[in-house]
Amino acid sequence: MRKLAVLHSQYKVWVPALQRAEPRLDIRGWHPEDRDLDHPWLSDCEALFAWKVPMGLLGHMPGLRWIQNSGAGVDHLVNHPELPPDVLITRADGHFGVPMARYVAAHFLWDTQALAACREAQEQCRWEGRLMAEDLGGARALILGFGRIGRRIGEVLRLLGMEVTGFVRQPRQDPDFALFGAQDLPSHLPKARLLVVVAPLTSETRGIVDRHLLAHGHGHLTLINIGRGEQVVVPDLLEALDQRRLGRAVLDVLPQEPLPPDSPLWKHPKVTLTPHHAGPSTPEAVIPDILPNLQTYAEGRTIQGAVDRSLGY
Ligand code: GLV
Repeated sequence: MRKLAVLHSQYKVWVPALQRAEPRLDIRGWHPEDRDLDHPWLSDCEALFAWKVPMGLLGHMPGLRWIQNSGAGVDHLVNHPELPPDVLITRADGHFGVPMARYVAAHFLWDTQALAACREAQEQCRWEGRLMAEDLGGARALILGFGRIGRRIGEVLRLLGMEVTGFVRQPRQDPDFALFGAQDLPSHLPKARLLVVVAPLTSETRGIVDRHLLAHGHGHLTLINIGRGEQVVVPDLLEALDQRRLGRAVLDVLPQEPLPPDSPLWKHPKVTLTPHHAGPSTPEAVIPDILPNLQTYAEGRTIQGAVDRSLGY
């Protein structure tokens, strides 16, 4: 029986769920901080299911050939100093599109439907007939990162009436959406209503939302970051909000998580913070997406669809 090691803070939930999904595997799990690992068992284990891989673990897994990431972003694995170059990494991004599109729609519509003002009027028993929703017909949404998740968000924003443009590493022809290179983002920003960052964290996207980009923004622009915290330069973001180069920022990811209590972001009136929950990684959501990989491994076939570690995703 082939072995799959699970290293996850919720391993007690994941191990039985993975075992039910693929009974042909010998699956054992540990908490990432567990010091009591079964080193002999791990030594010839070829597969690992994990989120963060602690330093020191991989030295006990010389037989490792494949890591199945429990989430979408693999920056922590691609940059892991102890991961041998020939270990395959697969992502789990197939199920995140709809929940993340809901997240974007909820936070954006909260503003454009004037929900806070409606609630305030209600609290004052005030029938405020002039409280109209903003017309999003033709309003422009820019989505940085247009893989499976970004595309789903684009589809939802388009249904809301917006004109959607995607930004990717390599511009390509797409039958449904206009796609540009990320370097074209500044020229699109002046007319945009919404910028969604959902790109993988790579050397090209690290710090991409900085003062140079935001210099092209305006006070009616909303930024929603559901990619990685390191893609937004926080001091530049605060400056842009204060100088009306940005109207509002919704941040689900931050350079340091949890966000330290003294961060000015907590209390900023134009910032909404959420605890990295836009794309929940539960077994119910993730396992159907990664089942083909589990089956491929159980049958001794070659894992398909591994990330390109040189590109970082
Ligand atoms: C979460 O951030 C993920 O990458 O799955």
